[in-house]
Amino acid sequence: MPLRTAILSVLLLPVHSPRHSSPPTVSVLVDANIQYQEVDGFGCSEAFQRAYDIFGKDGLSPENTNYVLDLMFSEERGAGFTILRNGIGSSNSSASNFMDSIEPFSPGSPSAQPHYIWNHNNSGQFPLAQQAYGRGLQTLYGNAWSAPGYMKTNNDENNGGYLCGVSNATCATGNWMQAYANYLVQWARFYEESGVKVTNIGFLNEPQLDVTYASMLSDGTQAAEFIRVLAKTIKASGLDLKINCCDGVGWQEQEAMLPGLQAGPDPAVNYLSVITGHGYSSVPNFTLSTHLKTWMTEWADLTGDYTPYTFYENGGPGEGLTWARNIQVAFVSANVSAFLYWEGAENSTSNSALINMIGNTVVPSKRFWAFAQFSKFARPGARRVEATSTDPLLTVSSFLNRDGNVAIQVISAATTVYTIDLQLKGSDGKSWVQPYLTDNAHNLTQLSPFQMSREGTFTTSIPALSMVSFVVA
Ligand SMILES: *[C@@H]1O[C@H](CO)[C@@H](O)[C@H](O)[C@H]1NC(C)=O
Ligand SMILES: *[C@@H]1O[C@H](CO)[C@@H](O)[C@H](O)[C@H]1NC(C)=O
Ligand SMILES: *[C@@H]1O[C@H](CO)[C@@H](O)[C@H](O)[C@H]1NC(C)=O
Ligand SMILES: *[C@@H]1O[C@H](CO)[C@@H](O)[C@H](O)[C@H]1NC(C)=O
Ligand SMILES: *[C@@H]1O[C@H](CO)[C@@H](O)[C@H](O)[C@H]1NC(C)=O
Ligand SMILES: *[C@@H]1O[C@H](CO)[C@@H](O)[C@H](O)[C@H]1NC(C)=O
Ligand SMILES: *[C@@H]1O[C@H](CO)[C@@H](O)[C@H](O)[C@H]1NC(C)=O
Repeated sequence: MPLRTAILSVLLLPVHSPRHSSPPTVSVLVDANIQYQEVDGFGCSEAFQRAYDIFGKDGLSPENTNYVLDLMFSEERGAGFTILRNGIGSSNSSASNFMDSIEPFSPGSPSAQPHYIWNHNNSGQFPLAQQAYGRGLQTLYGNAWSAPGYMKTNNDENNGGYLCGVSNATCATGNWMQAYANYLVQWARFYEESGVKVTNIGFLNEPQLDVTYASMLSDGTQAAEFIRVLAKTIKASGLDLKINCCDGVGWQEQEAMLPGLQAGPDPAVNYLSVITGHGYSSVPNFTLSTHLKTWMTEWADLTGDYTPYTFYENGGPGEGLTWARNIQVAFVSANVSAFLYWEGAENSTSNSALINMIGNTVVPSKRFWAFAQFSKFARPGARRVEATSTDPLLTVSSFLNRDGNVAIQVISAATTVYTIDLQLKGSDGKSWVQPYLTDNAHNLTQLSPFQMSREGTFTTSIPALSMVSFVVA
């Protein structure tokens, strides 16, 4: 058993393993014939000028720019993220970390000729999208945090306020719904005319929050009113753009918006492709009441201690194992098709990104490796399949890829090494098993491959407090 040889020396610590007792054994059953939701991918954002951090704003060398881009977007050399969430800026300047708007100042009225401007930069996010596509990106989600201030009840891109023209939001300047729809479509058109495809578009971010940065309030009914206008505008534009809604601040908050999207003789949900929600104020651990695909489009540890090197210490909010579980629960219990962290990489010593850049130093966190344990092996178009474990300390998930390869993720919250007896059904013709290990001492370390039995079974060790991905090919 090459896998055993590879890991036993590292993990059979005397303190955990009395010499003569053998590790507990857990049965894991994976049935690729029982299939669930489709995977759209994994990803992150580089909004609020973090894209520009990657391009060297704070001292990253060109070599390290490429290294960070590869870590994020290359399937071969990194995590192979296929989704990038770019902010559609609403700011009238590029000061601080603002995302600049394509129409920073009011044209005078909603029906006046708009004054769009395009700088092929978009706060660093446009060149980032080019680099990401060059490495295999498949989905570019353009998402506005707010309409420009002049389109809103509070005449400010910040501090909440409503889009002028939706229910209960009238403005002296008139109804800006059509102008906002035109504006969003124009943002996507600028990208497309410059050779970068925008696949999905969203017009709200955390619409429950009135905060000092770009923010715009909406309930489900108000969102539905705007979606009808946006859908018609997209149709008339000839662009192939899917509409996402509504990036609620938590999964419960997003659920609460669904009745408004589903109501009436012309339900807005009919124009949507994806229901999007975040993980902050309530976690994605239940299935939203929709037949549409759902994406978890933003979540991060914004408050915990800086823990880039910790896969497991005490279950803290920034630890790798915590995020491995967050991802697994979202797919298994909340039926998501995509999972995005907040920032992918930024110059900081906080947990709000997956990769820290500190001047010219690059630190991929254990959260990053936890993401990669999924994103590298459960590719777009894969189906989640049935996977069960007989011990709650070892949780499992599994995905059947389009090429027939099966990826199985085993996450161990046990403090000692365990043995698993795994049986895989429904993956005919596949027999080689390639394991990868992440724990406090390993970062997606490739272990020795081995062969399954003809019956599709194998027995192997799972180190304490670790994540092992098995790729059966
Ligand atoms: C692109 O945007 C970033 C962030 O706003 C800015 O710092 C940079 O100067 C811009 N680059 C160009 C070429 O305009
Ligand atoms: C620029 O945006 C800020 C923030 O929304 C706003 O307070 C200010 O009035 C805007 N300036 C102009 C000239 O529109
Ligand atoms: C508009 O305001 C009224 C009165 O407060 C409220 O009952 C109604 O739900 C609001 N409509 C929307 C779409 O928020
Ligand atoms: C989801 O997580 C919350 C917070 O941890 C918990 O209270 C709730 O019971 C969980 N729901 C399900 C369905 O597991
Ligand atoms: C899971 O999501 C898919 C769409 O991706 C949907 O068809 C299916 O009904 C959802 N499953 C449950 C249990 O809601
Ligand atoms: C980059 O991040 C490090 C760590 O947070 C910080 O000390 C440094 O000042 C930052 N560099 C710049 C130019 O902001
Ligand atoms: C794993 O990554 C961390 C953080 O980047 C690094 O300090 C450590 O040396 C890496 N370990 C191995 C075994 O590569």
